[in-house]
Amino acid sequence: MADEAIEVLLEEGRTFPPPDAFRQSGNLNDAAVFERADKDPEGFWAEQARELDWFRTWDKVLEWDCPWAKWFIGGKINVSYNCLDRHVKTARRNKAAIIWEGEPGEERVLTYRDVWREVNKFANALKKLGVQKGDRVALYLGMVPELLIAMHACNRIGAVHSVVFGGFSAESLRDRINDASAKVLVTGDGGYRRGTVIPLKKNADEAVEGSPSIENVVVVQRVGSDSGAVMKEGRDHWWHELMAGAPLWCEPEPMDSEDMLFSLYTSGTTGKPKGIVHTTAGYLLGVYLANKWVFDMKEDDVFWCAADIGWVTGHTHIVYGPMANGATQVMYEGSPDWPDKDRLWRMVEKYGVTIFHTAPTAIRTFMRWGTEFPAAHDLSSLRLLGSVGEPINPEAWMWYHEHIGHGNCPIMDTWWQTETGHPLITPFPGVTTLKPASATRPFPGIEADVVDEQGKSVPLGGGGYLVLKRPWPAMLRTVFNDPDRYVETYWSRFPGMYFAGDGAKRDKDGYFWLLGRVDDVMNVSGHRLSTMEVESALVDHQAVAEAAVIGKQHEVKGQGICAFVSLIAGVENTPELVEELRAHVARKIGAIARPDELYYAAELPKTRSGKIMRRLLRDIADGKALGDTTTLADPTVVAKLKEQYEDE
Ligand code: WTA
Repeated sequence: MADEAIEVLLEEGRTFPPPDAFRQSGNLNDAAVFERADKDPEGFWAEQARELDWFRTWDKVLEWDCPWAKWFIGGKINVSYNCLDRHVKTARRNKAAIIWEGEPGEERVLTYRDVWREVNKFANALKKLGVQKGDRVALYLGMVPELLIAMHACNRIGAVHSVVFGGFSAESLRDRINDASAKVLVTGDGGYRRGTVIPLKKNADEAVEGSPSIENVVVVQRVGSDSGAVMKEGRDHWWHELMAGAPLWCEPEPMDSEDMLFSLYTSGTTGKPKGIVHTTAGYLLGVYLANKWVFDMKEDDVFWCAADIGWVTGHTHIVYGPMANGATQVMYEGSPDWPDKDRLWRMVEKYGVTIFHTAPTAIRTFMRWGTEFPAAHDLSSLRLLGSVGEPINPEAWMWYHEHIGHGNCPIMDTWWQTETGHPLITPFPGVTTLKPASATRPFPGIEADVVDEQGKSVPLGGGGYLVLKRPWPAMLRTVFNDPDRYVETYWSRFPGMYFAGDGAKRDKDGYFWLLGRVDDVMNVSGHRLSTMEVESALVDHQAVAEAAVIGKQHEVKGQGICAFVSLIAGVENTPELVEELRAHVARKIGAIARPDELYYAAELPKTRSGKIMRRLLRDIADGKALGDTTTLADPTVVAKLKEQYEDE
């Protein structure tokens, strides 16, 4: 974020105290919890963990051998049991768990009993395919209830799921399957997005050709004959055929607290995405509590997190958190502008949504579309709003507050990461006075700080690196198959502290203001991508000699992708090649990685040791005066590049 923007943020003087209704009956309205948790974090987490249903309670709350954490040692628990069976045993059995709307407009309502039944059956189907406790199952689907059902079926039998976002390419899917050595892939014949069919099965086939670990592929029939999906005898099975013969009851596996629950791939600073490992009890506790407290889930709420399950937000705020709380939620397939730009607001009105959660990118897009779309619908059912995934700017915050919340709904700006499992810096509607665009303060039991280069705490009012100084139950445990990378990425920059990779400032009240990534991770429309991933995709093209990629401030997306490439000698730089290279990246990684801007460079600026100086490229792209270039091997390279960029 530019320095001027930070200053504007910190001058933000508006405050919004908790409305009376939340003060009186919010699930968390006792500010003393924070102090208690701070004094005795282990006691605090243990007290909360008693709200879950255990087959056997733990012997010891925490074993902490930094950076290795074990929580609730000796405990036995099952996640699907906590998200389904315990509700099915009560009057909640007939409560709507999922109200689903497909893009072509069809609706499905699944009660807790319905989801429980389908999960049991699919768990048995997986067992029949030879899936055992500890095996990995890859899931590559659109936003259909079967995705959520398959995830719970995995955890019911102790299999580890690895969900791959349906917008990723065949190659990205293949890499993730191979890293996890998944045994089964669950996919769909296709999915709908903006009126077209996403060829999930075709991509899956291509991926599985290069994935020797996959023994069986299960295919959900979503699209039918238009999908063009071809089934491979012996390897592929239709979901509905497997389910037709599956028994109704599957005993939930009593899992050790620390058994792996899932891995989810996310981008780091190298080209290779990493599998973030979450374990059973700690993650379940974190997401249960975060949804209960941050989103204040009550028996009669209709919660809607409009994210995709392919990202961590969908894991925590669709599949696990709301279901652990027995909440009713809306789930949808498609996108906010199809068939019309009022899709979401029409759905809020139609289903009586009370709590709505989305990303700043989406809010900025709604702002651009205009207020007439939300204004055309009765949004008075809403009582609470959420924002996640990237810094929100005060303008977007105020627009959301006014045009969606009609001034009545507190906004929960939740800071967290795939690694943290749930929001760690976040307001609570019953206790927190909000300041637009600040994620406010840490979750109970979390010790967050802002430190300087040396790891020294920066006094209030100053900025630096965001760190976490204590373990918490839902923290990642490691990087799948790569423990060194876990230590190196998160625990080496500042010994004894978790390095989040984000910059932050704290104001005089101790409120945190998140300032974006300080590493080579980009945040494009709330999606994490590494500059190196995009660079590798570019140099994979035969015309490209070298590539450097940076995240550039973008009005709607937060960051856009800006690429500088130098070509192989003899290749001509043409506008057609620009388009081809952009398309090449989209094919290699997925449409979310398509560069917004692409420039030819005769040479890229490098240090004498050969490192590309991205900082200079960033300055060029932002049109800033160039700072110190003395470490450059050839300072004239930058001047030429800048001249050329400004001519474009
Ligand atoms: C960014 C998404 C500012 C941050 C849940 C973090 C945010 C990265 C916020 C993690 C927020 C997430 N304010 N920045 N409220 N929430 N971020 O793993 O840079 O996809 O490191 O998890 O998103 O992205 P991830």
